[in-house]
Amino acid sequence: MQSIHEIVPMRALVSDWRRSGLRIGLVPSMGNLHAGHLALVRRALAGADRVVVSIFVNPLQFSAGEDLAAYPRTPDEDAEALRSAGCHCLFAPSEAEVYPQGRERQTLIEVPGLCNVLCGASRPGHFQGVATVVAKLFNIVQPDMAVFGEKDFQQLMVIQRMTAELCFPIEIVGVPIVREPDGLAMSSRNGYLSADERAAAPALYGTLRRLAERLRAGDAPSDAEWDAARELSAAGFKPDYVSVRRRADLAPAVVGDRALVILAAAWLGKARLIDNLDVDLPDEPA
Ligand code: PAF
Repeated sequence: MQSIHEIVPMRALVSDWRRSGLRIGLVPSMGNLHAGHLALVRRALAGADRVVVSIFVNPLQFSAGEDLAAYPRTPDEDAEALRSAGCHCLFAPSEAEVYPQGRERQTLIEVPGLCNVLCGASRPGHFQGVATVVAKLFNIVQPDMAVFGEKDFQQLMVIQRMTAELCFPIEIVGVPIVREPDGLAMSSRNGYLSADERAAAPALYGTLRRLAERLRAGDAPSDAEWDAARELSAAGFKPDYVSVRRRADLAPAVVGDRALVILAAAWLGKARLIDNLDVDLPDEPA
């Protein structure tokens, strides 16, 4: 596996591969890799001849007061995990390489209607930061495909819309959430949980599953959301939101919508956990 830290040699390697007719896959990440990331790498290897994994803890997607400084960084373990997984190139640029004029002077990308709702409402600027760095990575690596986890469902939608609307010729692939045996979605931020919080954390997924049952039983989304948030509070979480949305565009679901996704974000101690669950309601009899 090659390790590259600068844009010029990254582009040169990709040009060589492209001249040889190879298909290139990109997995953008912020490192501290776990089994969820490695599932993304496997998916990229299945669909491309050469796979680049980027590791960059992107300051632009953290608001003031968030966990940028504390975000877990494990470069040696990550490089080893990627080597074992069969990744061809690790691209780990510095902040100065990605934002040479400084973050404050960086041109930003905004996806209207998607950047400022749900997680975007609680984390102002977060999705602008994500869309901007992913667009830069797309221009640097110029992949044929890019792979993202469905745990960050809203992020995946932001990236899909940005890719379509900015005409990047890149296939965006989503990979299902990888869960711990007790149901907790894998996340680098799970490392912030104390032992007691870790034991309570799977209740988030349990709440989503019960909410899905209620929707299947015909309950109105708004009633079920309200009860789910109360259930999370009773389990020791500080819910940010629990929301039933249309899967196609993340608009709030109303009675009659069929292809839904339930999204939730909740604080447990120092960790802000997110999770989501698809729900397909059967068509109503004609
Ligand atoms: O999902 C992540 O790890 C990050 O948001 C991403 C897509 C790598 C952009 O920094």
